[in-house]
Amino acid sequence: MRNKQTKRGIFMSVTVTINAKPHEVADEHLEMSLLRYLREVLGLTGAKCGCDRGQCGSCNVLIDGECRRSCLFKMKKLDGKDILTVEGLADGDKLHPIQESFIVEGVMQCGFCTPGFIMTAVEILESGKLYSDDELRKLLSGHLCRCTGYENIFRAVKKTMYRRLGKEFDA
Ligand code: FES
Ligand code: FES
Repeated sequence: MRNKQTKRGIFMSVTVTINAKPHEVADEHLEMSLLRYLREVLGLTGAKCGCDRGQCGSCNVLIDGECRRSCLFKMKKLDGKDILTVEGLADGDKLHPIQESFIVEGVMQCGFCTPGFIMTAVEILESGKLYSDDELRKLLSGHLCRCTGYENIFRAVKKTMYRRLGKEFDA
């Protein structure tokens, strides 16, 4: 992290990459959480605020490839970080396989929890591991969903994991 001198004093210079685009964080936003910065400054409203205290998982994003609660990180701590949000997953018009799977499996009801679940699923898929049902349920357990009962979500993630690894799906 570098310091920069302005007319108002010396400030930290914080630059983050969000969905492959660099952003220099303005001084007045350094104390904001990443979640608020995404939603209120950049207009990226995919990550949701369900609790603002690290409990519900609706705000999950990837930071340097690891799934994290964006409500818990202040912008001033994120210098040099590479952040991926749900808005950065699709390749043009082509959805990420987990997004397609969520649609095919009819996962969404109100959809509030969906972006967070998707980002956790992306981390699971990127690991390249074939998790057991118990392991997968545990990895998904950090999310609250008030609508679905979780089974369709579990099935969508499991199916995509099997497909990605070229395995037969045995649900
Ligand atoms: Fe971040 Fe709930 S809003 S965990
Ligand atoms: Fe409504 Fe999960 S679909 S909270």
